Amino acid sequence: MADKSLDAPAAQVPTQLSDYRPYPFALTETRLDVTLAAEASSILAELDFSRRAPGALVLDIGKAVDLRRLAIDGAELDAAQWRRDGEILRIDAPAEGSFTLSSEVVVNPSANTAFEGLYLSGGIFCTQCEAEGFRHITPYPDRPDVMAPFRVTLRADLPVLLSNGNPVSAGDGVAVWHDPWPKPAYLFALVAGDLRAVSGQFTTASGRDVALNVWVRPGDESRADYALESLIRSMEWDEKVYGREYDLDLFNIVAVDDFNMGAMENKGLNIFNSKLVLASPDTATDADYERIEGVIAHEYFHNWTGNRITCRDWFQLCLKEGLTVFRDQQFTADMRSAAVKRIEDVLTLRARQFREDQGPLAHPVRPDSYVEINNFYTATVYEKGAEVIGMLKLLVGDEGYDKALGLYFDRHDGDAATIEDWLKVFEDATGRDLSQFKRWYTDAGTPVVTMTEDWQDGHLTLRFAQSTPPTPGQDDKPPRVIPIAVGLISPNGDEVVPTTVLEMTEAEQEFSFDGLAARPVVSALRGFSAPVMLDRQMDATTRAFLLSHDTDPFARWEAGRQLARETLLAMLRGESPGAEYLDAIGQLLADEAADPAFLALCLRLPSEEEIATVQAQGGTTPDPDAIHAAREALATEIARRHEAALEAVYARMEVSAPYRPDADQSGRRSLRLAALALLNRIDGGRRAAALFAEAGNMTERAGALGLMIQAGDAQQALSEFHREFSGVRLVIDKWFMLQPLHAEPDQAVAVAQHLAARDDFDWKNPNRFRALIGGLTANHAGFHAADGTGYDFLADWLLKMDAVNPQIAARMSAAFESWTRYDADRRKHAEAALDRILSAPALSRNLGEMIGRIRN
Ligand code: PHE
Ligand code: ZN
Repeated sequence: MADKSLDAPAAQVPTQLSDYRPYPFALTETRLDVTLAAEASSILAELDFSRRAPGALVLDIGKAVDLRRLAIDGAELDAAQWRRDGEILRIDAPAEGSFTLSSEVVVNPSANTAFEGLYLSGGIFCTQCEAEGFRHITPYPDRPDVMAPFRVTLRADLPVLLSNGNPVSAGDGVAVWHDPWPKPAYLFALVAGDLRAVSGQFTTASGRDVALNVWVRPGDESRADYALESLIRSMEWDEKVYGREYDLDLFNIVAVDDFNMGAMENKGLNIFNSKLVLASPDTATDADYERIEGVIAHEYFHNWTGNRITCRDWFQLCLKEGLTVFRDQQFTADMRSAAVKRIEDVLTLRARQFREDQGPLAHPVRPDSYVEINNFYTATVYEKGAEVIGMLKLLVGDEGYDKALGLYFDRHDGDAATIEDWLKVFEDATGRDLSQFKRWYTDAGTPVVTMTEDWQDGHLTLRFAQSTPPTPGQDDKPPRVIPIAVGLISPNGDEVVPTTVLEMTEAEQEFSFDGLAARPVVSALRGFSAPVMLDRQMDATTRAFLLSHDTDPFARWEAGRQLARETLLAMLRGESPGAEYLDAIGQLLADEAADPAFLALCLRLPSEEEIATVQAQGGTTPDPDAIHAAREALATEIARRHEAALEAVYARMEVSAPYRPDADQSGRRSLRLAALALLNRIDGGRRAAALFAEAGNMTERAGALGLMIQAGDAQQALSEFHREFSGVRLVIDKWFMLQPLHAEPDQAVAVAQHLAARDDFDWKNPNRFRALIGGLTANHAGFHAADGTGYDFLADWLLKMDAVNPQIAARMSAAFESWTRYDADRRKHAEAALDRILSAPALSRNLGEMIGRIRN
C-alpha cells in the first residue's frame, strides 16, 4: 500500500551556516566495490574511520538505497546497533580508536530519472554526486569537509570502466582505480559503457606525462576534437598564469546526454553534458564553441580551486565557484578578445544576477541558510561571486592578487576552506583590512550608486552616494567598499586623466580632480569595476560623445547601451526616438576599423526583459506588449535609416575562408548576423532565407532560421532543418528552442503547446526540456501573455517534471521570479499558477522551496 507520507510535500527544514559542527571522525580510506547492473547495482563500501571527538556516527543515506548489511570490523551489526531515520543513518560506533565500517546496498540506476547519484544515460552508467548525490549510492558522511583517498573496483561486462584517479588494473569486466588525493564524496564519479576516446597527451612543467581522453559515444568521435584542444589550452594557461600543474597520470572527460547541469569537475574524471563537448561546424554555433572552451577550462581549473582546496560546507560554495568562474573568464579573455568577453559577462550578470538580486530569490554570495542546496547554484553564487573577486583584485592590485593566491594555494592545499580563510590570505599577503569588503559576501542586493558632478574653475568634484535596497531577510545594508574606475576625457576627445580607481567606503563621498584646462567628460565605472547600478544624469549628446571617444571599451559600449535604453524608454512614453542614437548607429556602421565583435554587441538592442527591469526599478509597471512593440519599432527605424550601410556590413562580413570557431571569424559572423537581424525587419525575411539556404555552418543556419521564424515564414525551413538533423539531438534541441523564442508573442504559448505534444519532445532529457520551456520563458512578451496562458503552461510542466527530476523543475521555476513587477491581471494569473504548484501533493523540497520563496 502507498505510504501516505510519500505523498506529502517534502519538509522545508532550513540548514543554517551557524549550525556547522566538525565531523567527529577522520576517514582515512574509502574502498568501494561496485557491480553494475541496470536494475540492481550492488555497492560494497569499506570506510576506515578513526575517532577524533565524542559524538554519534551519523551517515547520510538516500531514500531509495536498499540497505542489506552493516558491519564494524567484520562483525555484523544487529538491529539495535543502528537506526535509519529518513535520510540519516545512526550507528553505534566504538568510543575511541579506529575501525572499519562495511556496508552492502543495492540501487536501481534505471529508475533514477532525477540524474542524481548513479544513473543510466543512453545506456551509459554514470554518476552525479555534487552536491549531495553520493548518499544515493552508498551510506556515507556526505559532506565536503570529510575527505578520503578512494580505491574503487568496478565490475561490469562493458568495454570501458572509469573512476577517479589513476588506473591500478583493468581487464575482463573488472577495473580497479586509485585516487591518492583525499577528496570529499561529491567529487566521486564512475562511468561505464560502450565509449570511444579521442586522446591526446600533455606534459606538465615538472615533467609529468598526462594521458588525456575525451570519451564519447561511438560515432561522435569527429565532434570531440575541440574539447580536447580546449583542455590542452586550459592546462597550459593554468601553469602559465597561476602556476598550477595537474597532479594525476590521467585526465578523462566523458560526454553524456542526460545531465542536469553543464558539467562536473569530479577528480580526474570530469563528466559533461554532451552539449558542452560535442561540436562540429555544421552542428554547433560559434557561441557553442566559445562555451565549450570556457566550460572545459572551468572544470579543469576546479582541480585546484575546488578539488585540491575544497569547501568546508555548502554555504562556502562561492569559494570554489566564484573563483573558478573568475579564472575561466580570465582564460577566455586571454584566448579571445578581453573587451568583448567583459561586455558579454556584464550582459549575463545583468540579465540573470541583477534580476535575481532584485526579486524574492535574492541571497548573499555566501548564503547563511538554505532548504535545498541545489537551489543555490545561482547567478549570485557564480557570476556575482566572480565579480567580487574582480573587485578584490582591483583593490589589492595585480601583484597583491598574485601574492594572495600563492598564499592561498600554499596554506590551504588539502583543506576544506571557508570565505574567512580566503579573505585572510588577502589580508596577510597585502596588509589590507577586508572587514568592510566582506559585506560583498554576506549582504545581498545590488547597490545603486548615484553620481553627480560639480565643475568650478579647473576643479572637478565627483559626488557619489550608495544605497542598497532591502532583500528578503536583510532590511538594513551598511555601505560597502566600492571600487569605481574613472577616466576623464577632454572635449576634443583626448584622455586627460587615465583610468583611476576611486575607493568609495562611505554612504556618501566625493573625489576631486584639479588643474583641468576645460571641463572634461567623465567616463565612470570603466570595465564595470563593481557590480552596481550606476545612476547618473547624462544627456544623449554626451552619451554619444562617450560612445565615439571613450578609450575604455566597456564604457564605450555602455554609453551606447544607455543611449539605446533611454531611446526605448522615451518611445514607451510616447515620444519619438531621438536623433542621437540613430546617428550614433550610423557612425558605428561606418567605422571599418572597429572590431566586428564589438560592433555586433553595440548593434544589439537591449532585450525586452532589460527594459522591463529598468522600468520596474523606476517605478513604472512594465507592459510586455508595449515593450515588444517599441523594440520592434526601433529596430525597424534603424533598418530603414541605415539600410545601405547595413547591407554593406552584411556583404563585407562574409567569411570565405574555411570555418574556424576563433574570435576573429566568429566576430565577423556575429556582426553579419546583427546586421541581418535589423535588415530582416524590412525585407520580409528574404535575406535570412537566402542565408539559410546557402550557409555551410550552424552559426549562420540557426541564426537565419531564427530570423525566418521572426519574419513569419519558416514552416518549410523548419521541416527541412528537422529532417536534416533528426539524428543529432543537440541540433534538434535548437529546433525546439528557436520556435517559441522567436514566435510572435501572441502565438508563443500555442507554439510551445504544439511542440510539447510531439513524440520527439523527449521531456525527461534536461536539454530538451530546457530548450522548449526555456525558449518560451525567454520570449518576454510571449511568456507574460496577458491571459496567463504562459504561466499556466509553465506551472503544468513544472509539476510534471517535479515528479521525475526535481532539480530541473526547481531551476526552471525561476522564470516566475519577477512576477510581482507586472500589472494586477498578470499578477493574478501568476499567483494562481504559483498557488496551484504550492498546493500540489508530493511537491519536492527543491520546487517547494523555490515556489515558496517566489510566492512570498
Ligand atoms: N560544480 C559544477 C560546476 O560548476 C556544477 C554542478 C553542480 C554540476 C551540481 C552538477 C551538479 O562546474
Ligand atoms: Zn564550477
